[in-house]
Amino acid sequence: MDKSVINIVGIDTSCDDTAIGLIDSNKNIINECKYSLDCKLYGGIVPELAARMHADKLDEIFKKTVENHPVDAIAATVGPGLISSVVLGSEFAKIYAKIKNIPFIPIHHLEGHIYAANIEQYPFLALLISGGHSDLYLCEEFGKYELIAKSLDDAVGEVFDKIGKHLELGFPSGPLVEKLAIKHTKCLEPMISMKNQLAFSFSGLKTKAIRIQNETKENVSWFLQESIGLTLKEKLQLAIKSTNVKNVIVCGGVAANKSIRNHIIEIPEINIQFPPINLCMDNGPMIAFAGLEHLKRNTKFVNNFEIEEFSRMTLTEFYTRFF
Ligand code: KG4
Ligand code: ZN
Repeated sequence: MDKSVINIVGIDTSCDDTAIGLIDSNKNIINECKYSLDCKLYGGIVPELAARMHADKLDEIFKKTVENHPVDAIAATVGPGLISSVVLGSEFAKIYAKIKNIPFIPIHHLEGHIYAANIEQYPFLALLISGGHSDLYLCEEFGKYELIAKSLDDAVGEVFDKIGKHLELGFPSGPLVEKLAIKHTKCLEPMISMKNQLAFSFSGLKTKAIRIQNETKENVSWFLQESIGLTLKEKLQLAIKSTNVKNVIVCGGVAANKSIRNHIIEIPEINIQFPPINLCMDNGPMIAFAGLEHLKRNTKFVNNFEIEEFSRMTLTEFYTRFF
């Protein structure tokens, strides 16, 4: 490709959002569109309905995003996620790439979350906190990801969603818990989960939050958010100490939470980066940003049409198998 600035479109259909974004190779977002399943009606995600929605909306959202702009490359999530949903976005992208004769780049969803932050330095630690993951990766150089901690049970976002459901807040509950927590009138003593251990486990916290009685939703929300903020801060401090890596990225839907951000930025002497708030939850531009990194390096992923979509796989395994 001989153009000095090219446009890359990114597609994410890993869950219940048909999310598409167009960026240029100078990392400007040109346009983005998203259509989301109304999960409030069901209290959670119904995989079959999500897949039907993607099938219904993909071409419309795609056209709206790229309208009047050239597209020079296309990147799409190939996993992890709801397999019937992932397949739709990824196959759409493969067909488009073949028809238009442009590069296709298969992307691991979590790498998209990471590159939603503007990464300038390696090595870095990446704390991924979303509805499906609480993972801590050490990234020594591009593509070299070591999973150094993960959740033994629920992901952080899942904890927000489950306690939110218990409090009858609606779905997804994370942003609603954050709003309520601001109005707390009492500080219930927060709980740090699995103190002095790198692995995450939130089942104890979940039980404790559910058992709180005679307290307002605002106070329970504050307790939950504060406990998670302090726990994540402690885990990161342990990881920084054991790896001596001081560049830290915190990303994924839960990284939109300002109180959690405030706890993490208290860690002294680190270079911390968060994606902009609007790029924390699943979105199209993050997949295009990750695609750009592959194009810049002309990695083995560029034009790899062979990788089959998957529902579960760590970033470490993804690179070990395909890089
Ligand atoms: O990254 P994401 O959009 O989807 C996954 O890949 O899972 O993350 C969604 C999760 C949900 O569980 C949602 O409740 C949580 O992120 N979340 C938040 C906030 N915004 C979204 N949790 C806490 N505070 C927020 N402001
Ligand atoms: Zn995600």
